Amino acid sequence: MDLSPTFGFSLTIKLTMKKISILIAGFLLAFAPVKADEGMWLPMFVKRLNYVDMQKQGLQLTPEEIYSVNNSSLKDAIVRLGRGFCTGEIISDQGLMLTNHHCGFGVIQENSTEEHNYLDDGFWAMKKSDELPAGFAVSFLVRMEDVSKPINAVLNEEMSLMDRAKAIKKVSDSLEKAAVGEFEYTANVKSFYNGNEFYLFVYETFPDVRLVGAPPSSVGKFGGDTDNWMWPRHTGDFTMFRVYADKDNKPAEYSEENKPYTPKHSLPISLKGVEPGDFSMIFGYPGSTDRYLTSEGINYELEVRQPASVKLRRQVLDAYQEGMDQNEKTRIQYASKFASVANYWKYFIGQQAGLKRLKVYDKKKGQEDALAAWIAKDEDSKKLYAGVIEGFKTGYDNMKEANRVRVYLNEAIFRVEAIAYSFQFSGLKSALESDNETSTNQTMERIKGGMDAHFKDYNMSIDRNVFAAMMKDYSNDIPKENQPEDYKKMVTKYKGDFKKMADDAYAKSIFGSKEKIAAFLEKPSEKILAKDPIFMIQSSIIGHFRSNISPIIQTESEGLKRSERLFVKGLREMNSDKVYAADANSTMRFTYGQVGGYEPMDGAKYSHVTTAQGILEKEDPSNPEFVVPAKLKKLIQDKDFGQYADKKGDLIINFIANNDITGGNSGSPMINGNGELVGTAFDGNWEAMSGDIAFETELQRTIGVDIRYTLFIIDKYAGASHLIDEMKLVK
Ligand code: ARG
Repeated sequence: MDLSPTFGFSLTIKLTMKKISILIAGFLLAFAPVKADEGMWLPMFVKRLNYVDMQKQGLQLTPEEIYSVNNSSLKDAIVRLGRGFCTGEIISDQGLMLTNHHCGFGVIQENSTEEHNYLDDGFWAMKKSDELPAGFAVSFLVRMEDVSKPINAVLNEEMSLMDRAKAIKKVSDSLEKAAVGEFEYTANVKSFYNGNEFYLFVYETFPDVRLVGAPPSSVGKFGGDTDNWMWPRHTGDFTMFRVYADKDNKPAEYSEENKPYTPKHSLPISLKGVEPGDFSMIFGYPGSTDRYLTSEGINYELEVRQPASVKLRRQVLDAYQEGMDQNEKTRIQYASKFASVANYWKYFIGQQAGLKRLKVYDKKKGQEDALAAWIAKDEDSKKLYAGVIEGFKTGYDNMKEANRVRVYLNEAIFRVEAIAYSFQFSGLKSALESDNETSTNQTMERIKGGMDAHFKDYNMSIDRNVFAAMMKDYSNDIPKENQPEDYKKMVTKYKGDFKKMADDAYAKSIFGSKEKIAAFLEKPSEKILAKDPIFMIQSSIIGHFRSNISPIIQTESEGLKRSERLFVKGLREMNSDKVYAADANSTMRFTYGQVGGYEPMDGAKYSHVTTAQGILEKEDPSNPEFVVPAKLKKLIQDKDFGQYADKKGDLIINFIANNDITGGNSGSPMINGNGELVGTAFDGNWEAMSGDIAFETELQRTIGVDIRYTLFIIDKYAGASHLIDEMKLVK
């Protein structure tokens, strides 16, 4: 993102400053119809960094209307879901909150049974007393503050990684405590630009959130995994919740006495739709990006992490699918698990392809070479940045195999539900061994508390198949010297028959069955755990990781983390005219740009919108991903769109804009120049799947649900017009 007064002028400056951007910038200047904006910006800096540019692009609001600590502003209508798995926006003065269907999917799934299948049929609370507890909290941002000065004041280049972390924590703790003061707030300090800057965030968290309305999956997930991460799209990916507060409008645990929360700000909703070139802004909680990843990091991603993740996830999905095809109950039980594994399975496929196709390695390498040349020109820089760039290769090389184990731990070992579950019992085993009664009782209580929830959507035969597949991959793909002896012995005993190994393990173990766990908890003993095959595998692999693998990662991280920090510092110094945006880290950001289509490949042009016609074109009653509900079909055929039609009488379903978002932004409001809600962001596009690592100016798009489609479904399809009445519509 560039902040100089005129676009063309600032580009020429950049060209002389930063060689590698010549190609991209030239391309942009020549072909891009709209100016694309990389950058997930911090609202507290809007006035200083972005405002002039935003105004030029069509923003009508003042900086204070976007972010203000003392007066209500846009930021007060934006919420973080849980710890940031998604974003939501407040759309009525009764705490009504809009987010994505895929963000509410877990809640919809948990509340579904064969009798009340809200996944298939949707859910609509026709009165407030019908709303269902969601089981996650939402947080409003109270304020944010740059605390880099006091933290950097206690840091120096001689410190070890550990000492650095301790020093940061000490100052952060006291800043957080002071920030919270007398209030029921939480505060935390987060690091930015790979540890060069630090900002403090203060939140007010509301635990009572309830499900209000969700369309059927045939609307909310229309196109399924086939269309996921792709444009053109026709998905009504939205769900509504309501935030509740106590009688004083303060956070409170769920209670029937609670009242709908009165927000400081709720978003007015525009029925006017969007045109190419219209200003588009997104507010939300992007989770994480890796825009400063180096060429060596790209190599690691392409060689180790991405192929392993794709391979392992595919096998897990196949095992889920086989089980889900057996019966309705299992299909409901595993719907949410399947969706989340599938989402990043496809993501990694796209990311790998994108990194290669867009030659991201070369671009990164070019950037590093430029930095190396800049460092070499100055004696002080040579000292400060000594070994930084060379350090990446050594670091990644030395860590490669340890990292592979780490990937398999997350993507294979912990994907086995019984193994992950058994990990919770490690604490119990130590407590039992040391005869610590208080600790034993505490862990027992915790385990008992979570037992029903764990087994509610658990299917042992699916899990056993996942186990067999994952144990095999771990055994074959991880070099033998990086596997624990116990595990290798076990594999040898079974002569590599992983199916037999799985059958025996699940027959003997307590971890595949609620009854066995309940019986164990009646008479807990460390001996039973020590002999349990699932527990043994878990503790030997984790134990081995802790003693043999993790130390390698720690040692290498020492240099790598420092290099990463100095790399970003160097880049920002070298290109001091350019404003670099910090990587996403689950803190509130906004991004702005324009509505507009793109050219996905030579000879093709994509429009900025899709219409209801496309739903009928994609309809396929034989494919569950493309079923169109009869009522929706009729409304579309009759063009019965009411006030939600566009000027031509069509119903716009989804639209795209060149905003910079990532996972965590799901559910974020797409806002026009007047601060009105025009859509809900829900996805990125296939051609720019490498975007979390390198933003692709000419290709990257955010896909959103046009708010008029959302309202049409609520009103005309579901007949929940009482919800529309709560909203402020701008016609
Ligand atoms: N790709 C979307 C995201 O990560 C999730 C879309 C959910 N839909 C699906 N078919 N899995 O935000």
